[in-house]
Amino acid sequence: MSIKLLIVNGPNLNLLGRREATIYGEISFEEYFNQLKNKYLELQLEYYQSNSETDIINCIQNAESKYSGIIINAAAFSHSSIALSDAIRAIKLKTIEVHISNIYARESFRHSTLLTKHCWGSISGFGLLSYDLAIQAFINQKI
Ligand code: DQA
Repeated sequence: MSIKLLIVNGPNLNLLGRREATIYGEISFEEYFNQLKNKYLELQLEYYQSNSETDIINCIQNAESKYSGIIINAAAFSHSSIALSDAIRAIKLKTIEVHISNIYARESFRHSTLLTKHCWGSISGFGLLSYDLAIQAFINQKI
């Protein structure tokens, strides 16, 4: 059975490519996601983005029966959402937290996230490659 991973992006990540390009890069996530799908043809990769906390929580709850794992960049919700933290805690799926920027090298309010302790691991600061590294973690661990 092939590995099926869901990538979940939170608020404002629909603006990638247009938003603060020096921090977040110059390509859209759709473009990067296509690169990932072409690179990992043996995997089933799906992508969901929402600016709504409610929708992201519903998406995580519904993912449990459908995927081998979740890669989540909850963006600003990472630093604030107890509800999202509880959702990740509640499901049994392995979850990796990713951040495009190095959150520890930025403003102090970005230095901690409420998600990390419920995640399998976290990857921060490698640009869009952070998502690729998370995929590699799933492949290497064979879930
Ligand atoms: C981010 C870092 C967050 O602090 C910020 O709110 C984001 C993006 C990142 O990928 O570097 O929106 O999660």
